[in-house]
Amino acid sequence: MKIVLIGPPGAGKGVYAQYFRDKYCIPHISTGDIFREEIAKNTELGRRIRSYVEQGLLVPDEITIDVIRKRLSQPDTVSGFILDGFPRTLNQAKALDEITSIDAAVHLEVSEEIAIRRLSGRVICPVCGRVYNLYYEPKPKIDEQCDYDGAKLVRRKDDEPEVIRQRYRVFYETFTPIINYYKDTNRLIEVNADKPIKEVAPLLERILVENKVLKLKPCRNISP
Ligand code: AP5
Repeated sequence: MKIVLIGPPGAGKGVYAQYFRDKYCIPHISTGDIFREEIAKNTELGRRIRSYVEQGLLVPDEITIDVIRKRLSQPDTVSGFILDGFPRTLNQAKALDEITSIDAAVHLEVSEEIAIRRLSGRVICPVCGRVYNLYYEPKPKIDEQCDYDGAKLVRRKDDEPEVIRQRYRVFYETFTPIINYYKDTNRLIEVNADKPIKEVAPLLERILVENKVLKLKPCRNISP
C-alpha cells in the first residue's frame, strides 16, 4: 500500500498514519517530522529550513523532494508506506510519480473551525514524542504531563494561532492543483475527517479495502 495523506493542518494526517503504521507495520513518512528532527539536531539541513517551518511557510520544493527521494530509497519502503504532508505542491506530486507509483491520495476533509481547535489543544511529550490533546482524546491524565514519563508537555512552535492561520493559507494556495492531479489520474479518495478518531479510522480502513488499496493483513491487533 503506497498512499499519500492530504489535508489541512489538524486534519489528522499524523494520527491516521501512525495508526496504519502500528497496525500494518508499514513506514509512516512525515516531511514535517523529518524537518522538525533536523531542526532539533541543528543539522545543516535543519538550519536551512528552520525559518520556513517556524513561520508556517513551505520549504522549497528542491529540498523537500530530495528529502523524500532519499527516504523512499530505504529498503523498508519497498512493500508500502504512508506519506503524511507530502506532496504539498503540484511539482512535488509529479516528482513523486517519477520516484515511485502511488496507489491512492486520501483527502482528509475537515472544517477549519474544528481543525484549529484540535491544533490549539495539541501538546507533545518532548521525551517520548507521544501526542495528546487538551480538548480531545487522548487527553493527558494529569494536565500538561506525559502519562508515561511525567515530562512536561510542550506545544509545537508552529501551533501558535498566527502561525496556524498562515499554515492554513499556505495549504489552500496549492491545494486545488494537487487534488485535480490525483482526481484526473483516478487516484483520489475523499474522506470526511470531522468526526472523532474512533469513527474516522475504521471508515478510512474500510474505504481503502473497498478500493483495493489496502490488501495487507494486520501485524498487530490495534484499535484506534
Ligand atoms: P506538518 O508537520 O506536516 O504540519 P501540518 O500539515 O500543518 O500538519 P499537522 O501535524 O498540524 O496536522 P495533521 O493533519 O498531521 O494533524 P494531527 O494528526 O497531528 O508540516 C509542518 C511544516 O513543515 C509545514 O508548515 C512546512 O513548513 C514544512 N513542510 C512539511 N511538509 C512539507 C512539504 N511537503 N513541502 C514543503 N514544506 C513542508 O492532529 C492534530 C491534533 O488534532 C492532534 O492533537 C490530534 O490528536 C487531534 N486530532 C486529529 N484528528 C482528530 C479527530 N478526528 N478528533 C479529535 N482530535 C483529532
